[in-house]
Amino acid sequence: MPVSASYDAFCRYYLALERASPSRSLERCTLLELAGDLSGRDVVDLACGEGWCGRQLLAAGARSALGIDICTSMIAEGRARSAGEGDRMTFLHADVMDVERDGQFDIVTGACLLCLAKTRNELAAMYAQARRLLRPGGCFIAVVNNPQYRHTGSINPATHAQVLECVSGEGHQRMRIRFGAREDAVVVDYNWDTASHEAAAEQAGFHESVWMWPKVTPDIRAKHPAGFWDEYETNCARAFLRVRC
Ligand SMILES: C[S@@+](CC[C@H](N)C(=O)[O-])C[C@H]1O[C@@H](n2cnc3c(N)ncnc32)[C@H](O)[C@@H]1O
Repeated sequence: MPVSASYDAFCRYYLALERASPSRSLERCTLLELAGDLSGRDVVDLACGEGWCGRQLLAAGARSALGIDICTSMIAEGRARSAGEGDRMTFLHADVMDVERDGQFDIVTGACLLCLAKTRNELAAMYAQARRLLRPGGCFIAVVNNPQYRHTGSINPATHAQVLECVSGEGHQRMRIRFGAREDAVVVDYNWDTASHEAAAEQAGFHESVWMWPKVTPDIRAKHPAGFWDEYETNCARAFLRVRC
Protein backbone atom coordinates (compact mmCIF):
# COMPACT_ATOMS: atom_id res chain seq x y z
CA MET A 1 0.00 0.00 0.00
CA PRO A 2 1.27 3.52 -0.78
CA VAL A 3 2.26 5.38 2.32
CA SER A 4 2.22 9.09 2.97
CA ALA A 5 5.38 8.97 5.06
CA SER A 6 5.85 12.69 4.53
CA TYR A 7 3.21 13.42 7.20
CA ASP A 8 5.89 12.72 9.79
CA ALA A 9 7.75 15.82 8.63
CA PHE A 10 4.82 18.23 9.03
CA CYS A 11 2.44 16.37 11.30
CA ARG A 12 1.97 19.16 13.87
CA TYR A 13 1.63 21.82 11.19
CA TYR A 14 -1.04 19.76 9.40
CA LEU A 15 -2.94 19.09 12.62
CA ALA A 16 -2.87 22.77 13.63
CA LEU A 17 -4.43 23.69 10.28
CA GLU A 18 -7.04 20.95 10.59
CA ARG A 19 -7.97 22.01 14.13
CA ALA A 20 -8.35 25.61 12.97
CA SER A 21 -10.32 24.66 9.86
CA PRO A 22 -13.73 26.40 9.92
CA SER A 23 -15.24 23.53 7.94
CA ARG A 24 -14.61 20.90 10.62
CA SER A 25 -17.84 21.61 12.52
CA LEU A 26 -19.83 21.21 9.28
CA GLU A 27 -18.03 17.98 8.50
CA ARG A 28 -18.79 16.74 12.00
CA CYS A 29 -22.55 17.17 11.32
CA THR A 30 -22.26 15.22 8.06
CA LEU A 31 -20.26 12.44 9.72
CA LEU A 32 -22.82 12.09 12.54
CA GLU A 33 -25.74 12.12 10.13
CA LEU A 34 -24.19 9.29 8.12
CA ALA A 35 -23.24 7.30 11.22
CA GLY A 36 -26.79 7.28 12.64
CA ASP A 37 -27.47 5.60 15.99
CA LEU A 38 -24.15 5.11 17.80
CA SER A 39 -25.20 3.34 20.94
CA GLY A 40 -23.27 0.10 21.44
CA ARG A 41 -21.25 0.74 18.25
CA ASP A 42 -17.54 -0.04 17.98
CA VAL A 43 -15.65 2.26 15.59
CA VAL A 44 -12.30 1.92 13.86
CA ASP A 45 -10.82 5.05 12.29
CA LEU A 46 -8.37 4.11 9.51
CA ALA A 47 -5.50 6.51 8.65
CA CYS A 48 -6.79 8.35 11.68
CA GLY A 49 -4.18 11.10 12.08
CA GLU A 50 -4.92 12.34 15.59
CA GLY A 51 -8.27 10.53 15.44
CA TRP A 52 -10.76 13.20 14.45
CA CYS A 53 -13.43 10.86 13.03
CA GLY A 54 -13.24 8.32 15.83
CA ARG A 55 -13.24 11.00 18.51
CA GLN A 56 -16.37 12.66 17.08
CA LEU A 57 -18.23 9.35 17.04
CA LEU A 58 -17.05 8.46 20.54
CA ALA A 59 -18.18 11.84 21.89
CA ALA A 60 -21.55 11.33 20.21
CA GLY A 61 -22.18 7.99 21.93
CA ALA A 62 -20.17 5.18 20.30
CA ARG A 63 -19.07 2.43 22.69
CA SER A 64 -15.43 2.45 21.55
CA ALA A 65 -13.13 4.04 18.97
CA LEU A 66 -9.77 2.73 17.82
CA GLY A 67 -7.56 4.91 15.61
CA ILE A 68 -4.96 3.34 13.32
CA ASP A 69 -2.21 5.26 11.56
CA ILE A 70 1.18 4.47 10.10
CA CYS A 71 2.75 7.75 11.19
CA THR A 72 4.28 7.57 14.67
CA SER A 73 3.95 11.29 15.33
CA MET A 74 0.24 11.24 14.37
CA ILE A 75 -0.35 8.39 16.83
CA ALA A 76 1.58 10.24 19.54
CA GLU A 77 -0.53 13.38 18.91
CA GLY A 78 -3.71 11.31 19.04
CA ARG A 79 -2.77 9.68 22.34
CA ALA A 80 -1.76 13.02 23.85
CA ARG A 81 -5.04 14.57 22.76
CA SER A 82 -7.10 11.75 24.24
CA ALA A 83 -5.15 11.95 27.49
CA GLY A 84 -5.67 15.74 27.58
CA GLU A 85 -9.37 15.54 26.82
CA GLY A 86 -9.92 12.47 28.96
CA ASP A 87 -11.65 10.52 26.20
CA ARG A 88 -11.47 6.75 25.75
CA MET A 89 -10.13 6.64 22.20
CA THR A 90 -7.35 4.10 21.74
CA PHE A 91 -4.65 4.01 19.06
CA LEU A 92 -2.64 1.48 17.13
CA HIS A 93 0.48 2.26 15.14
CA ALA A 94 0.16 0.14 12.00
CA ASP A 95 -0.36 0.07 8.26
CA VAL A 96 -4.14 -0.19 7.91
CA MET A 97 -3.74 -2.95 5.34
CA ASP A 98 -1.95 -5.17 7.86
CA VAL A 99 -4.62 -5.00 10.55
CA GLU A 100 -6.21 -8.36 11.33
CA ARG A 101 -9.29 -7.62 13.39
CA ASP A 102 -11.86 -9.15 11.11
CA GLY A 103 -15.51 -8.59 11.99
CA GLN A 104 -14.82 -6.60 15.17
CA PHE A 105 -16.37 -3.22 14.28
CA ASP A 106 -19.75 -1.71 13.43
CA ILE A 107 -18.40 1.44 11.77
CA VAL A 108 -15.18 1.93 9.82
CA THR A 109 -14.18 5.50 9.04
CA GLY A 110 -11.41 6.58 6.71
CA ALA A 111 -10.78 10.28 6.11
CA CYS A 112 -8.18 10.85 3.38
CA LEU A 113 -7.44 7.13 3.12
CA LEU A 114 -8.86 6.17 -0.27
CA CYS A 115 -7.03 9.06 -1.95
CA LEU A 116 -3.80 7.16 -1.25
CA ALA A 117 -4.77 4.43 -3.74
CA LYS A 118 -2.79 4.92 -6.94
CA THR A 119 -4.54 2.20 -8.93
CA ARG A 120 -8.00 0.63 -9.11
CA ASN A 121 -6.55 -2.55 -7.57
CA GLU A 122 -5.27 -0.59 -4.58
CA LEU A 123 -8.63 1.15 -4.24
CA ALA A 124 -10.42 -2.22 -4.31
CA ALA A 125 -7.99 -3.61 -1.71
CA MET A 126 -8.77 -0.73 0.67
CA TYR A 127 -12.53 -1.25 0.36
CA ALA A 128 -11.98 -4.99 0.89
CA GLN A 129 -9.96 -4.31 4.04
CA ALA A 130 -12.70 -2.01 5.41
CA ARG A 131 -15.26 -4.71 4.63
CA ARG A 132 -13.23 -7.39 6.47
CA LEU A 133 -13.10 -5.30 9.64
CA LEU A 134 -16.90 -4.89 9.78
CA ARG A 135 -19.60 -6.97 11.41
CA PRO A 136 -22.55 -7.88 9.18
CA GLY A 137 -24.75 -4.80 8.65
CA GLY A 138 -21.91 -2.42 9.48
CA CYS A 139 -20.94 0.59 7.43
CA PHE A 140 -17.82 2.24 6.01
CA ILE A 141 -17.84 6.03 6.01
CA ALA A 142 -15.12 7.49 3.82
CA VAL A 143 -14.16 11.13 3.55
CA VAL A 144 -12.80 11.41 0.04
CA ASN A 145 -11.69 14.07 -2.37
CA ASN A 146 -14.83 15.30 -4.08
CA PRO A 147 -15.14 13.50 -7.44
CA GLN A 148 -16.84 16.60 -8.84
CA TYR A 149 -13.99 18.90 -7.83
CA ARG A 150 -12.88 21.34 -10.58
CA HIS A 151 -9.31 22.53 -10.41
CA THR A 152 -9.13 26.29 -9.87
CA GLY A 153 -5.77 26.61 -8.11
CA SER A 154 -7.24 28.83 -5.41
CA ILE A 155 -6.71 28.25 -1.68
CA ASN A 156 -9.89 27.16 0.02
CA PRO A 157 -10.03 29.38 3.14
CA ALA A 158 -12.35 26.92 4.86
CA THR A 159 -9.88 24.01 4.63
CA HIS A 160 -6.53 25.81 4.19
CA ALA A 161 -5.72 23.47 1.30
CA GLN A 162 -4.60 24.40 -2.19
CA VAL A 163 -4.55 22.05 -5.17
CA LEU A 164 -1.30 22.98 -6.90
CA GLU A 165 -1.66 20.61 -9.83
CA CYS A 166 -4.37 18.32 -11.15
CA VAL A 167 -3.65 15.73 -13.85
CA SER A 168 -6.36 13.50 -15.33
CA GLY A 169 -5.78 9.74 -15.36
CA GLU A 170 -7.80 6.55 -15.77
CA GLY A 171 -10.78 7.02 -13.43
CA HIS A 172 -9.06 9.65 -11.34
CA GLN A 173 -7.34 13.00 -11.09
CA ARG A 174 -3.88 13.01 -9.54
CA MET A 175 -3.61 16.08 -7.38
CA ARG A 176 -0.67 17.74 -5.69
CA ILE A 177 -2.07 19.43 -2.60
CA ARG A 178 -0.39 21.89 -0.29
CA PHE A 179 -1.61 22.51 3.25
CA GLY A 180 -1.30 26.14 4.31
CA ALA A 181 1.80 28.04 3.28
CA ARG A 182 4.62 25.63 4.12
CA GLU A 183 6.57 24.55 1.05
CA ASP A 184 7.13 21.01 2.34
CA ALA A 185 3.52 20.40 3.45
CA VAL A 186 2.65 18.83 0.11
CA VAL A 187 1.05 15.45 -0.62
CA VAL A 188 -0.07 13.64 -3.76
CA ASP A 189 -3.67 12.44 -3.68
CA TYR A 190 -5.70 10.39 -6.15
CA ASN A 191 -9.18 11.79 -6.60
CA TRP A 192 -11.18 8.75 -7.80
CA ASP A 193 -14.38 9.28 -9.75
CA THR A 194 -17.77 8.17 -8.46
CA ALA A 195 -17.96 5.09 -10.70
CA SER A 196 -14.53 3.84 -9.54
CA HIS A 197 -15.48 4.23 -5.87
CA GLU A 198 -18.80 2.49 -6.32
CA ALA A 199 -17.32 -0.35 -8.40
CA ALA A 200 -14.59 -0.98 -5.80
CA ALA A 201 -17.16 -0.88 -3.00
CA GLU A 202 -19.45 -3.33 -4.78
CA GLN A 203 -16.53 -5.66 -5.53
CA ALA A 204 -15.78 -5.72 -1.79
CA GLY A 205 -19.38 -6.71 -1.00
CA PHE A 206 -20.75 -3.30 -0.04
CA HIS A 207 -24.06 -1.87 -1.25
CA GLU A 208 -26.23 1.24 -0.69
CA SER A 209 -23.81 4.04 -1.64
CA VAL A 210 -24.84 7.36 -0.08
CA TRP A 211 -22.90 10.49 -1.05
CA MET A 212 -23.11 13.61 1.08
CA TRP A 213 -21.53 17.06 1.06
CA PRO A 214 -21.21 19.19 4.21
CA LYS A 215 -23.72 22.05 4.31
CA VAL A 216 -22.94 25.53 5.58
CA THR A 217 -25.35 26.30 8.40
CA PRO A 218 -26.67 29.86 8.96
CA ASP A 219 -24.84 30.26 12.31
CA ILE A 220 -21.48 29.22 10.81
CA ARG A 221 -22.07 31.41 7.74
CA ALA A 222 -22.68 34.43 9.98
CA LYS A 223 -19.24 34.02 11.59
CA HIS A 224 -17.32 34.77 8.38
CA PRO A 225 -17.20 37.57 5.79
CA ALA A 226 -19.35 37.46 2.66
CA GLY A 227 -17.91 35.10 0.05
CA PHE A 228 -15.87 33.10 2.57
CA TRP A 229 -17.79 29.89 1.86
CA ASP A 230 -18.16 30.36 -1.92
CA GLU A 231 -15.41 27.91 -2.95
CA TYR A 232 -16.44 25.43 -0.25
CA GLU A 233 -20.08 25.46 -1.35
CA THR A 234 -19.62 25.46 -5.11
CA ASN A 235 -16.45 23.41 -5.43
CA CYS A 236 -16.01 21.59 -2.14
CA ALA A 237 -12.81 19.56 -2.11
CA ARG A 238 -14.24 16.93 0.25
CA ALA A 239 -17.15 14.53 -0.03
CA PHE A 240 -18.52 11.83 2.26
CA LEU A 241 -19.46 8.37 1.06
CA ARG A 242 -21.19 5.72 3.17
CA VAL A 243 -21.49 2.11 2.05
CA ARG A 244 -23.02 -0.83 3.94
CA CYS A 245 -22.41 -4.52 4.13
C1 LIG B 1 -4.54 13.60 5.37
S1 LIG B 1 -4.09 12.66 6.80
C2 LIG B 1 -5.72 12.40 7.44
C3 LIG B 1 -5.75 12.19 8.91
C4 LIG B 1 -7.14 12.10 9.51
N1 LIG B 1 -7.89 11.01 8.94
C5 LIG B 1 -7.87 13.41 9.38
O1 LIG B 1 -8.86 13.47 8.68
O2 LIG B 1 -7.45 14.39 10.01
C6 LIG B 1 -3.70 11.07 6.11
C7 LIG B 1 -3.21 10.09 7.14
O3 LIG B 1 -3.06 8.81 6.53
C8 LIG B 1 -2.00 8.16 7.20
N2 LIG B 1 -1.59 6.98 6.41
C9 LIG B 1 -1.04 6.98 5.18
N3 LIG B 1 -0.82 5.71 4.77
C10 LIG B 1 -1.25 4.89 5.77
C11 LIG B 1 -1.28 3.48 5.96
N4 LIG B 1 -0.84 2.67 5.00
N5 LIG B 1 -1.77 2.99 7.10
C12 LIG B 1 -2.20 3.81 8.08
N6 LIG B 1 -2.20 5.17 7.96
C13 LIG B 1 -1.74 5.71 6.83
C14 LIG B 1 -0.97 9.27 7.33
O4 LIG B 1 0.03 8.97 8.26
C15 LIG B 1 -1.85 10.44 7.73
O5 LIG B 1 -1.97 10.56 9.12
